[in-house]
Amino acid sequence: MSETILITGGAGFIGSNLVHHWHRTHPDDLIIVLDKLTYAADRTQIDGLQNVELVVGDIQNLGLVRSLIERHGVKKIFHLAAESHVDRSITGPAAFIQTNVVGTFSMLEAARQAWAGEKGCRFLHISTDEVYGSLGDTGKFHEAMAYAPNSPYSASKAGSDHLVRAYHHTYGLNTVTTNCSNNYGPRQHPEKLIPLAISRMAKNEPIPIYGDGMNVRDWLYVEDHCAALETAMLKGKTGETYCVGGDNERTNLDLIDLLCDTVDAMLQRPQGTSRNLKSFVPDRAGHDRRYAIDATKSRTELGWQAQTTFEKGLEQTVAWCLGKHGMSV
Ligand SMILES: NC(=O)c1ccc[n+]([C@@H]2O[C@H](COP(=O)([O-])OP(=O)(O)OC[C@H]3O[C@@H](n4cnc5c(N)ncnc54)[C@H](O)[C@@H]3O)[C@@H](O)[C@H]2O)c1
Repeated sequence: MSETILITGGAGFIGSNLVHHWHRTHPDDLIIVLDKLTYAADRTQIDGLQNVELVVGDIQNLGLVRSLIERHGVKKIFHLAAESHVDRSITGPAAFIQTNVVGTFSMLEAARQAWAGEKGCRFLHISTDEVYGSLGDTGKFHEAMAYAPNSPYSASKAGSDHLVRAYHHTYGLNTVTTNCSNNYGPRQHPEKLIPLAISRMAKNEPIPIYGDGMNVRDWLYVEDHCAALETAMLKGKTGETYCVGGDNERTNLDLIDLLCDTVDAMLQRPQGTSRNLKSFVPDRAGHDRRYAIDATKSRTELGWQAQTTFEKGLEQTVAWCLGKHGMSV
């Protein structure tokens, strides 16, 4: 049976990929995208899709959110809208508190009001593994771990996670929270590490690498993430949280080297061309050293597992980014 779902932040990186994913897997559903269209958005990513309606607005507008839910009989909400770029949270934290904390509060309150007496409704909150802080050389983040956010971004996401938890425990709202690792893939904003590096390689410009390049991230292909979100929405247990990761730990240096070789191969230029562009720059303030996810619970309870190899995912990402630069591969 077809229905109407609401995706906040659906003109952003993960949100737009989720719009395409849901559109493909549930072609008869109507998808309402609520997005403020900040600098991070690109509405052209979802333009022209049938059964997708973009509403330009702020998640902090409780009345707007409530009326969208009530008017369309929305029973499934994917909440992705956020200020998401860590570097920007260091230079301008206020917007992160407004959108991530106050905005998530508005979303929860609108859902609580609109869904009073309704059955079968679910609020899926998309969060980050950064709420757990930074790891040493061993161990992985998991659902039972204490929160220890280090940046204004991760602190604001931690605050939003706590609000979601409280709305479940206090009001019985049917919530599920996912905490995922770093995503990569098509449609990512050009200032993020992977698209930025590809763009610099394409233009033969220096590729900036923070500090010693030995920070470790657990890279997750965005389409695998979207499959996890679909599964968490359909099969997750109410009130639960699920860690979602690619089981794919890489130092930034290893990642950049692999990316350099992929770009050189795809542009048919001598291997080593891009590696020569690597340029070390002063480290990010408070830069977390290592993130890694133990996704056992998502595997066993949701039956989800990342499917895309890093090599394949990077090839698809490079092809998409070079296409944006008008370079066909
Ligand atoms: N990108 C990652 O690697 C990653 C990793 C873990 C968790 N997450 C989380 O996933 C979600 C999506 O991340 P992303 O990378 O796609 O982010 P993004 O920055 O690419 O997109 C965010 C979207 O939200 C919209 N938005 C911002 N403020 C808004 C507001 N007040 N009202 C309505 N819309 C607003 C923006 O216009 C944009 O389209 C975020 O909640 C983020 O915290 C992302």
